[in-house]
Amino acid sequence: MSKMLKSRVMALNPRFNYIPQGDRHFLARETPKYKFNVIGSGIMGQEHVRVTMMEGRATIKGVYDPNPGSIAGAQAEYKQFDPEGALQVHESVEAACLDPDVDGLIIATPNFTHVGLIKEAIKSGKHIMLEKPIATNLQDAYTIYEIGEEYKGVFQVGLQYRYKPTYRETINMIMGQKSAVGDIKTITMTEHRIPFLDKVDQWNKFSEYSGDTLVEKCCHYFDLMNLFAGARPVRVYASGSQAVNFVGYEYNGKTSDIMDNAMVVVDYENGVRANFNLCMFAPMFYEELVLCGDSGYLKTWEKEDFLAQSSTGTGLELFRGDDQTSLRMTPSYPATIQHSGHLGATFMEHIDFVNNIDGIATPTATALEGLWSIIVASAAQESIKQGQVVQINDYLQANNINI
Ligand SMILES: NC(=O)c1ccc[n+]([C@@H]2O[C@H](COP(=O)([O-])OP(=O)(O)OC[C@H]3O[C@@H](n4cnc5c(N)ncnc54)[C@H](O)[C@@H]3O)[C@@H](O)[C@H]2O)c1
Repeated sequence: MSKMLKSRVMALNPRFNYIPQGDRHFLARETPKYKFNVIGSGIMGQEHVRVTMMEGRATIKGVYDPNPGSIAGAQAEYKQFDPEGALQVHESVEAACLDPDVDGLIIATPNFTHVGLIKEAIKSGKHIMLEKPIATNLQDAYTIYEIGEEYKGVFQVGLQYRYKPTYRETINMIMGQKSAVGDIKTITMTEHRIPFLDKVDQWNKFSEYSGDTLVEKCCHYFDLMNLFAGARPVRVYASGSQAVNFVGYEYNGKTSDIMDNAMVVVDYENGVRANFNLCMFAPMFYEELVLCGDSGYLKTWEKEDFLAQSSTGTGLELFRGDDQTSLRMTPSYPATIQHSGHLGATFMEHIDFVNNIDGIATPTATALEGLWSIIVASAAQESIKQGQVVQINDYLQANNINI
């Protein structure tokens, strides 16, 4: 059988609508073989609708969300791919979960709802993709990890930054047959960006609902650190505060209490040292990873600066001294994929969600990896509260977590 390249994305280009189905070969799209329901169709749920439909091996059948605006957004996404059709709107979480016509559930609701919704969703036995962070606190994260470990269907966690072109290329270069930097010794990660965007009910302004910023957003970076370190974290020290964003912001009688800056240091069992630097009151997005190994230095970044003379984009540089090649490149997916959300990472995550359902092994994040990302994040938040180093083993023991 020919392994000839096919283009899912060019196949969606309306210029080719005149080609009859039977004449499509390079532009042939697979007939969708799976159906998913989306639970929670805010900004991320809508991205899941979009990329599922773009990817093409599955389709979205229905949605459940208490906010009519979110439903309308999901319908608009869906109609881009099926102008005559519409998503079924479910009346309840139970109806969406137990719909006998669907194979999978995508849960993209606010973080504090994840633990309750997962308990409902697993009754269906359907494949599950659960958005990150799996929960807002260690106890709930551990409960979800135990559920995920035992679950017979696919249980995938939405830590899809692994699939951003920058990090994916880095993973290829580091975890391939021969690491491009040798043995990694230090990891440095940076996220400098604009404040958190508005959300339905503003759940991300309150630690009770989001788990606070290091859990809510930075679990992505701790997941990447854990992946690159390739070992268990042993101790965490962090400093951080709510210095600028949403200070004094009130909603429904509660005052915002989330951090907007932090510096986190993590020591790993194998001697790797990592640090993470967060500033959320910058007027652009800038993300950077530096890996220093014993035979190379790799830096990769992503920037969106909103300026007229824009220098928005991605980059990757590898320096390896004077006896080996070095290189400079611009990791990227095809434009339509790259612009579909999170630099195409969510699209790639969906390719592997379907592959997981088909029984093909993939590097998507597991419940255990979802838990470890929260262990580091919540240990960092604990360290900030106490002003002390948090020893991971003591921290896990104190929380009755045995992994
Ligand atoms: N993987 C990523 O890169 C990424 C990016 C953004 C958000 N997220 C995650 O996705 C989830 C949703 O975030 P968002 O940014 O889309 O928020 P959002 O506020 O835009 O959307 C959340 C939606 O969930 C709905 N909702 C609330 N409670 C619900 C319930 N019990 N059942 C069904 N729907 C419910 C809300 O009405 C809203 O439409 C969060 O866990 C967030 O951390 C992940």
